[in-house]
Amino acid sequence: MLQGKKIVLGITGSIAAYKSCLIIRQLIKKGAEVQVVITPAGKEFITPITLSALTSKPVISDFFSQRDGTWHSHVDLGLWADAMLIAPATASTIGKMAHGVADNMLITTYLSMKAPVFIAPAMDLDMYAHPSTQQNLRTLQAYGNHIIEPGTGFLASKLEGKGRMEEPENIVSSLERFFAQQNSLAGKKILITAGPTYEKIDPVRFIGNYSSGKMGFALANECANRGAQVELVCGPVSASMQVHSPNIHRTDIESATQMLEACQRLFPSMDSAILCAAVADYAPETTATQKIKRTGDDMVIRLKPNPDIAASLGQTKQAHQTLVGFALETNDEESNAQAKLKKKNFDFIVLNSLKDEGAGFRTDTNKITIITANGKTEYPLKSKSEVAKDIIDQLALL
Ligand code: CTP
Repeated sequence: MLQGKKIVLGITGSIAAYKSCLIIRQLIKKGAEVQVVITPAGKEFITPITLSALTSKPVISDFFSQRDGTWHSHVDLGLWADAMLIAPATASTIGKMAHGVADNMLITTYLSMKAPVFIAPAMDLDMYAHPSTQQNLRTLQAYGNHIIEPGTGFLASKLEGKGRMEEPENIVSSLERFFAQQNSLAGKKILITAGPTYEKIDPVRFIGNYSSGKMGFALANECANRGAQVELVCGPVSASMQVHSPNIHRTDIESATQMLEACQRLFPSMDSAILCAAVADYAPETTATQKIKRTGDDMVIRLKPNPDIAASLGQTKQAHQTLVGFALETNDEESNAQAKLKKKNFDFIVLNSLKDEGAGFRTDTNKITIITANGKTEYPLKSKSEVAKDIIDQLALL
């Protein structure tokens, strides 16, 4: 998978920099070409001579070669690479990447990079756990970068043992897995619904729910990484929820009726649909045109049922199409999910139980069980981006 791949390896000033040698050796053994870009602090931990001996290429550290003054073009590196890997990535480099502080060759190369970027953080637990670092990692992930870490990922609630760089062989296998799947969904069109719906009561009030859209966005990114064309239909999510892949086309809607219209328009030309949105089951029977005023009396809002988007797509589903649903349950989880699988004509259903800590709404992690007509597979607690990989692996099997 790595044969002939061109990898820019960014090395920063961490004690884990010596492990970069192991990463280089493995990449080269698997047939990759490696170009090292090192920060000034990185050179304090490992010498460019060692790195150039291992890669058979001069190490790039400055904007100009100290030997003959040749300009090192970060733009050319950005075009040359099939992937950029930053391992180890210190808190400082992660912060600069998140904010575009282009004060060294590594950051300018990152900002010019056209290929996917993988980041393996390395720092002590306090620095890692600091909200600034966590926010920067979130930002980098939202920009479409891949964070490689031991365990369930930086967004998991448990921090023990965190901050340590992932082992070189696992870093290399993450890259291998990425390249193995890179075009595995090329030519496929996938519809994904995400987030909540808002059902208007009056011009300033609505009925909504706590869905953040994170799971749907993670699914959209994963499909796009594998080369699929994604139609992402999402309800009102926070402004920080962004997609940055040219493979993703986003349609923003507000209500269940609008989501239904968008899905019915798009679904006939899709190969699959993953219905991850938390659609409100009911909407106010009427929407007041003016703000409802406070009175001393009790107040009643009469609700009417919303359309069931999943069931509607399930009815029109063609033999070549697959439909994936979600179920968020609080009790009798598996039997409820089985019933929904049949009722809505899903090919499989992803079950979250609100009984599981770290699963469901407003978390960055999820714990799922995938239920098909023939059986079930339970997965451990993982970051939503890792959960998305498991779901798309299952979709790819169909
Ligand atoms: N769904 C949908 N349209 C709706 C309601 C749900 O497309 N109006 C989809 C969801 O996106 C999800 C699946 O159906 O993939 C199951 O959603 P859920 O709310 O658990 O199912 P409901 O049929 O609404 O059942 P419940 O009575 O448990 O709310």
